Amino acid sequence: MTVKLFRHARIYTPKDTGRPATGQGLAELAIFEHGALLVKNGRIVCVGDETKVLQHPTVGDVQLETDCEDCCLIPGFVDPHTHMCFARRREAEFERRISGTPYLDILKQGGGILSSVRAVARATEDDLYRVTRKQALAALKLGTTTVEIKSGYGLDTANELKMLRVIHRVGRSTPLDVVPTFLGAHAVPEPFREDPDRYVDQVINDMLPAVRRQGIAQACDIFCEEGVFSLDQSRRVLEAARRLGMRIKLHADEVRDLGGAGLAADLRAVSADHLLAASDDNITRMAQAGVVAVLLPATAYSLRKPYARARTMIEKGVAVALATDCNPGSSFTESMPFVVGLAVLNMNMAPAEALTAATINAAYALGVSGWAGSLDEGKQADFVLLDGESPSILAYHSGVCQAVAVFKCGEPVA
Ligand code: NIG
Ligand code: FE
Repeated sequence: MTVKLFRHARIYTPKDTGRPATGQGLAELAIFEHGALLVKNGRIVCVGDETKVLQHPTVGDVQLETDCEDCCLIPGFVDPHTHMCFARRREAEFERRISGTPYLDILKQGGGILSSVRAVARATEDDLYRVTRKQALAALKLGTTTVEIKSGYGLDTANELKMLRVIHRVGRSTPLDVVPTFLGAHAVPEPFREDPDRYVDQVINDMLPAVRRQGIAQACDIFCEEGVFSLDQSRRVLEAARRLGMRIKLHADEVRDLGGAGLAADLRAVSADHLLAASDDNITRMAQAGVVAVLLPATAYSLRKPYARARTMIEKGVAVALATDCNPGSSFTESMPFVVGLAVLNMNMAPAEALTAATINAAYALGVSGWAGSLDEGKQADFVLLDGESPSILAYHSGVCQAVAVFKCGEPVA
């Protein structure tokens, strides 16, 4: 048994009310200016004002006391949308993109996601593991303690299963909790270019059952976009995944308003992600259906597109979450603090709203709210000490790592 006490902290945490925060709930944090956190065997036993925490019966068993020196203490970030399992970066393509070639044109010409697919096919499992682990550890240093990682650069059964094994291995060999997602329908692979429906059949009839037998991914995603997978194709794949008992989500309305947000509402998906071009009607339908909107402002920033309309979504009662989208094409960053900064400065979210979106709402989007996303008693003691007085520091002091220390289950890990 290990009992640890963290003292002299300015604690800021969203409250877990049993469902994702919406409307004004996004800005409602529990704040303890003179706070303390008591941890037993990696779990939180008491959190609050230091005077209250010091009265807890378990304080008598404390073996290690840490002085947080009045740093701001927040829950570890939960990053609910990444593609950080890839074999090679795409710097040359970035240069083409910033000189004017649109992201989807690069894909149409066989680059983009398809060039990452070729690199994964060539990479050994160990190489892929090394690159993925490096990205995951970079995220941890910046304060992410739970991360989703998608497959989707395999696009055939063997390589998709290979990616999922690598993602699983990164979870076992780093302090991070890693949540794997199957994204076999990320692009139409070259051999199927003339007959995308045949690839969709393959995803449904071969890949999904193989992924279920492998048992690593519990969730299924699809890139629903003009020129990639249509609404009908997306519905077929996601319904098949649901029949196999998987959680479903989708890349929706990232570039064009195809109606992906409406499909997410129809299917009661766990989340719809991106939504840069989502319509008002479909945003309303997402709110009614309880679909979490996972917003990825670093992608809008990198693609130089207008940001998702976070304020409209919050006003309409959608639960908003934030994620990095970390991938070698549209958004190469592991930094949740950067994403929070963009959300505050470019999507007009208040720092408190952005913190909630990057922690507890992100945990709901991933199905991990039972043990992550807030500093509630019984949850894992996953937290970050920031060099600042409040979470505003994440937007205010930009371009640096604001995390002084990162703790996973009460252990210092970065
Ligand atoms: O979320 N849009 C599809 N997938 C990723 C990009 C993947 C890539 O370019 O490699 C995204 O933006
Ligand atoms: Fe993505």
